[in-house]
Parts: sequence; C-alpha cells; structure tokens
Amino acid sequence: MPHRASFYTFFTYPKAMAPFIVIEGIDGSGKGTQAELLGKRLESVGVDVALTFEPTGGPIGKIIRDHMKDPFLDDRSLALLFASDRIEHIRNEVSPALSEGKVVISDRYAYSSIAYQGQTVDPGWVGMINSDALRPDLVIILDMGSSEVKKRIKDRGTTDCFEEDLSFLEGVRNMFLSISGGEYLPGNLMTRFLLLDATEDPDRISDMIWNVVSSICPP
Ligand code: TYD
Repeated sequence: MPHRASFYTFFTYPKAMAPFIVIEGIDGSGKGTQAELLGKRLESVGVDVALTFEPTGGPIGKIIRDHMKDPFLDDRSLALLFASDRIEHIRNEVSPALSEGKVVISDRYAYSSIAYQGQTVDPGWVGMINSDALRPDLVIILDMGSSEVKKRIKDRGTTDCFEEDLSFLEGVRNMFLSISGGEYLPGNLMTRFLLLDATEDPDRISDMIWNVVSSICPP
C-alpha cells in the first residue's frame, strides 16, 4: 500500500521533533471525539500517539474538578490552578511523550484558560501566567453556537459550573474566535490555528483535521 508507506515515512520523527497538537472548543463541541479519531488515524499509519487532557488527572486537576462541581475558589485562584496544572501536564506527560517521538494530542490547553477564565479575570493577566507554556504546533478550535451546545449538553445529562450558563458559554465561544485570530495571546501561544465548524458531520471534521495534520509535518 504505497499511500500507507508514504505516510509512515512522513510521520517517523526523530526524538523531540514530533508535533504537539491541541484541540479546543466550548463544552460539547466534540473535542474528545476528534482527538480520538485523529489519534486512531495517526496510529493506523504507524505513528505513536499520546492523548492527554486538561484539567489533568493529577492532584491539581483534582482540586479543579472539585471546584467545578461546587465552586469554592476565587476566579483568580482558579486561573492560577489551571496554569499550575498545565505546568505539571507539560512536565509529566507532554514533554516526555514528545521526547519519545510521540505525537501529542491534548484535549484543551492554555487557550481554554484565556477563553474561560478571561470571562471574569483580565485575559491579558491569564495570558501572562501562561507565558512560558510550551508552544503547540497546531491548535484546532471547534466552533459551535450556544443553542447547539445547550442541546448536546442536555443529551449528555451532566454539567459543570460553566455549562449551566449559556451566555457565559457564548462569551467563551467569542473569545475562542478572537484567539483564533491571534488576539489575547502571549508570544509563546502564537501558532497555527485551524477553526472548524463543529456542527459539521464528525467524519468530515476528522477529514479536514487530517488534511492539515498531514501538511504541517515535515517530509
Ligand atoms: P473538560 O474536562 O474538557 O470538560 P468537557 O469534557 O465538558 O469539555 O473541562 C472541564 C471544564 O474546565 C470545562 O468547562 C472547561 C474548563 N476549563 C477552564 O475553565 N480553563 C482551563 O484552562 C481548562 C483547561 C478547562
């Protein structure tokens, strides 16, 4: 299968050169599904993949999740905890995987902090406390309006503190749109953005992501 062989060559990276890919979007936009589909596609052509997510499953991620169920923190403390959880994420998961030559696909990253915490805290300050986070090679933003989100979250049945407030989510969506144009970002978070309509068919979205992921990889 020449197609398969050529992709295998394409994606065989020297250590520390594999791409770091981030998928972002408001709750219910299908990030997890797309991360999995991309991971499977890469693996099917022989590429090692690490799927990660934020908030992480580590101790700081746990405090964050407790807060999301029943809020008890100041919004600035929450922003600092997300930044701190991210430092652990990079140190314990992202960097080791990249240095083993794995493509890292992270479900959420610092752009979520700017979009969500930036609703109630100065987004410039949120960017600043994330200004030494590792730069991704590609950020995919799945865009969706709040009426569609409402339907999807209702079908799923569970909510966190942000998902209950649709006007808040609309603000987050608008912030993601601004971020995709480079607004609010410290230099380390400037990178390639792929903005996609999350209401499209998931397989079609996956094809569009695949086209770009193939093209950003050096031959
Ligand atoms: P996540 O587990 O991705 O939830 P979902 O699967 O519903 O999208 O994220 C949990 C919540 O954390 C989500 O509402 C977004 C929020 N969040 C922030 O507010 N700031 C951040 O920096 C991150 C990473 C997530």
